Amino acid sequence: MTNQQDMPSGAFKKEHAANYDDRWKPLAAITDALHLFSRSALTSLPDDAHILCAGVGTGADILAFAEAYPGWQFTGFDPSEDMLDVCRDRMDEAGLAGRYTLHQGYIDDLPPTAPFDGAVSFLVSHFITNAKKRAEFFRAIADRLSPGALYLTADLAADFNDPTFDDLMDIWLGTIAMAGMNAEGQANYRKMFRKEFAAHTPVEVEKMIEASGFNRPIQFYQGGLIRAWAAQKPESEPNRRFWRRL
Ligand SMILES: C[S@@+](CC[C@H](N)C(=O)[O-])C[C@H]1O[C@@H](n2cnc3c(N)ncnc32)[C@H](O)[C@@H]1O
Repeated sequence: MTNQQDMPSGAFKKEHAANYDDRWKPLAAITDALHLFSRSALTSLPDDAHILCAGVGTGADILAFAEAYPGWQFTGFDPSEDMLDVCRDRMDEAGLAGRYTLHQGYIDDLPPTAPFDGAVSFLVSHFITNAKKRAEFFRAIADRLSPGALYLTADLAADFNDPTFDDLMDIWLGTIAMAGMNAEGQANYRKMFRKEFAAHTPVEVEKMIEASGFNRPIQFYQGGLIRAWAAQKPESEPNRRFWRRL
């Protein structure tokens, strides 16, 4: 089973869900850039692609692609019904009714579907601190994809064994402070990092993705401690070029 329940308790419940988007708005430059590069990384997908959004939260993942790729359909899932409630409102406000389906639960709770052309999980897998369960999460996504499909994952990850780690964390916490996190919150964040989230180094994450049914991932973005990788499920047809249509 891949129903990892490693989230900090109380996370993504009603109040947190209602404030989630406003809370992180001051750091929008980081996620806007992530989404910009992500649109580029997925540009080779078909015009009528169906995208799986794992841990879709309040729908930022869908909004990142819906306008640029007007023929795409989205299936999102998330264990937090409260996040999904906010997501539904945002999707409808954005005029996306008919282009998305949402499911409450984990990936194993998804009903059978046709294989997806692409998948994203943004700021989700870093909550899975057990390496075996995290690899199972990646594997479960790979199992839902068609051959040649593309997968993007963005996660908090740092090499905490590197001597520069504490300095990097200082810079990151200074950035988060701009989103209103006070000194106590920052101290807690420092303690929780690696224990309650982001338990694996970037190299470990890459190895897990590759061992879970994908070709070698490419790190295509880094904003502070957030890194994003693109990986492709191996093709069944040799020489088919999925990355580029140009
Ligand atoms: C930080 S939010 C990110 C939401 C959205 N992807 C975004 O970028 O705005 C993390 C989301 O992942 C969900 N989540 C946590 N663990 C999960 C898991 N094992 N599988 C799927 N979703 C999970 C949470 O409920 C939450 O909505």
